[in-house]
Amino acid sequence: MSTLNTSISTEQTQREAPELAPAAVQDKPEETAIEYGQTVGTPFADDAKFRLRDVEVYYGESQAIKGVSLDIARNEVIAFIGPSGCGKSTFLRCLNRMNDSIDICRVKGSLELDGQDLYDPRRDVVELRARVGMVFQKPNPFPKSIYDNVAYGPRIHGLANRKSELDDIVEDSLRKAGLWNEVKDRLDAPATGMSGGQQQRLCIARTIAVSPEVVLMDEPCSALDPIATAKVEELIAELSESYTIIIVTHSMQQAARVSHRTAYFHLGNLVEVNATDKVFTAPEHKLTESYITGRFG
Ligand SMILES: Nc1ncnc2c1ncn2[C@@H]1O[C@H](COP(=O)(O)OP(=O)(O)OP(=O)(O)O)[C@@H](O)[C@H]1O
Ligand SMILES: [Mg+2]
Repeated sequence: MSTLNTSISTEQTQREAPELAPAAVQDKPEETAIEYGQTVGTPFADDAKFRLRDVEVYYGESQAIKGVSLDIARNEVIAFIGPSGCGKSTFLRCLNRMNDSIDICRVKGSLELDGQDLYDPRRDVVELRARVGMVFQKPNPFPKSIYDNVAYGPRIHGLANRKSELDDIVEDSLRKAGLWNEVKDRLDAPATGMSGGQQQRLCIARTIAVSPEVVLMDEPCSALDPIATAKVEELIAELSESYTIIIVTHSMQQAARVSHRTAYFHLGNLVEVNATDKVFTAPEHKLTESYITGRFG
């Protein structure tokens, strides 16, 4: 019986949906107008670290990113926001070729890092990912000690000649990640025994231990409590002095607190890019306004 009930209620939902959608469209026709490849605001920058033009991403036949053009400036913090499924993670993963590992994924367009083609087949992807590090939504420490997690990258990239040099890199990275005082007496303890917030800061320490130029963060605080979130946000502010940071977030307060520019994505389109203050106080596009005022997403 319960199965039958469920299927009836699903059918009802499906019947209602098409009746509601056209009415909403008629009310606000301008809100649905997105011109392919067009972005309002200030998507371009003079001192571009990344120069991205007409980027399209497909998963099989399905297009997830629709003609996006954007510059990401050196040493800026830019936030990617937008409803679930709009392509934020997909676009972010283009920037260090993490999408390469998804068989059905194809990336088209021109993507340059410091004026060099990111997708040049001769490019060393391991070296690229050291330059463009990534912090994921869920902390993913290696099943190793705290020390070995941070030392891992410097070891494989040969960044330290002596144990004392490696010790210095580990300490410096843990200090920058705001974790040193909490872990300095248990560097040999397994990383998996840390709290979630500590693990996330450890993953940030691991990322910055190889001195990246760019840090990509995909919802880095979504599993953290407000105190751990505040620590990660402080860290972003400090890191932004020397790194370019791109952060995907569902928290508009977080985007407002940490970023210089905000990019609003909608159904694979880059609808608006503007100074963060402007996006949250006087958005230029109706779709951005609807999203930040909580009308969808
Ligand atoms: N590995 C994949 N295989 C097939 N389709 C995918 C894959 N990853 C993402 N997609 C599709 O691409 C579109 C964009 O997804 P993406 O994960 O980039 O969105 P998002 O904005 O990061 O969403 P969220 O806020 O929920 O994380 C969605 O329609 C999604 O279903
Ligand atoms: Mg995502």
